[in-house]
Amino acid sequence: MDVKTITVIGAGTMGRGIAYAAALGGFRTILEDVQPEQLQQALATISTSLDEGMQRGKVTAQQKIETLARISTANSVDLACRDADLIIEAVPEDLEMKIDIFCILEKFARPGAIFATNTSSLSVTEIAAVTSRPELCIGLHFFNPVPKMKLLEIVRALETSEQTVNACREVGIKMGKEVVVIRESPGFITSRINAMIGNEAFYMLEQGIASAREIDTAIKLGLNHPMGPFELVDLVGLDVRLSILEYLHRTLGEKFRPCPLLVQHVKAGRLGRKAGRGVYEYHQPEKKV
Ligand SMILES: NC(=O)c1ccc[n+]([C@@H]2O[C@H](COP(=O)([O-])OP(=O)(O)OC[C@H]3O[C@@H](n4cnc5c(N)ncnc54)[C@H](O)[C@@H]3O)[C@@H](O)[C@H]2O)c1
Repeated sequence: MDVKTITVIGAGTMGRGIAYAAALGGFRTILEDVQPEQLQQALATISTSLDEGMQRGKVTAQQKIETLARISTANSVDLACRDADLIIEAVPEDLEMKIDIFCILEKFARPGAIFATNTSSLSVTEIAAVTSRPELCIGLHFFNPVPKMKLLEIVRALETSEQTVNACREVGIKMGKEVVVIRESPGFITSRINAMIGNEAFYMLEQGIASAREIDTAIKLGLNHPMGPFELVDLVGLDVRLSILEYLHRTLGEKFRPCPLLVQHVKAGRLGRKAGRGVYEYHQPEKKV
C-alpha cells in the first residue's frame, strides 16, 4: 500500500493540524469541511504553524512553499475522498457523525483506500463495521497541537490488517511522529490514563484538598508533567473531557464516573480556554487555532 494522497475530513483543531503534518510530510493533502470559514481559518493556521516551524529551525522557506502547494480544500466529503489513498476523519466526537462519514466513504472512496478515524475514545471496530472493508479501517490518534506533539497512537481494530497498520506506521513516520501501535480498548493508552488523572484532580478540588493552582504545580514540579491537569483540561475543553469520561464510565466501569464538579463546570459553560473560562479565567475567548 503506497500512500500518496491523504484526505482529512473536518478542518477544526485537529483536522488542520493533521493536514499540516500530512502536507509537510510530502503527501498531497485535501482538507474538507462543511463550513467554508473553517477551511479559510485552517489555511491561515497552517501557514502560521509553518512560520513557527521556520522560527524553530524545523522548516525551511522552500518547505513552506512546497507544503502549502500540496494542500487543496473541498467542501463535500464525496468529492474530497475520491482520489485519496488514506482518508482521516476528524469531525466532532460523535459516533453517529463518524458513522455517517464512513458510510459516505464506503460509497465514494476508491477500492483499497484506508479509512482512519482520529477519535479520542470511540470504538474504531464499531465505526469500521458500517463498511465492507474493516481490514482497511484503523484509528490514527493524533495529539493537540499536532505540529508540536510527537506521538501518533495507531489503534488496531478487531479486523484491521497488518498491511493497513504498516502503511499507517510509514505515513506516521513521514509525518515526523513517533508511533505506538495498540489493540483497541476504550480510551486507548493516552485518553484512558489522562482522563483518570484529570478526573481525580477534580475530585481533589471538590474535596478541598488543595487549590487548582496547587494541584497543577504539584503535578508539574513533582511528577514532571509539562502541564498540570487543570491547565490541560482547559486546553482540551471540559466538554470534550466529560464526554470521554462518560464513555469510559459506560465501558470500563465505576472508576471512571465523571466527578460532579467537572459536570457542574460544563453546565455553567466553563468549557475551557475556548470559552474564555474553564477551571481558570482567561481574559478573552481564545480564537480557534
Ligand atoms: N481537540 C483535541 O485535543 C483532540 C485530540 C485528539 C483527538 N481529538 C478528536 O479529534 C476529533 C475532532 O476534534 P476537534 O477538536 O478537531 O473538533 P473541532 O470541533 O475543532 O472540529 C471539527 C470540525 O469538523 C467539521 N465538521 C462537522 N461535521 C462535518 C461533516 N459532516 N463533514 C465535514 N466536516 C465536518 C466542523 O465544521 C469542524 O470544523 C474528535 O473525534 C476528537 O475527539 C481531539
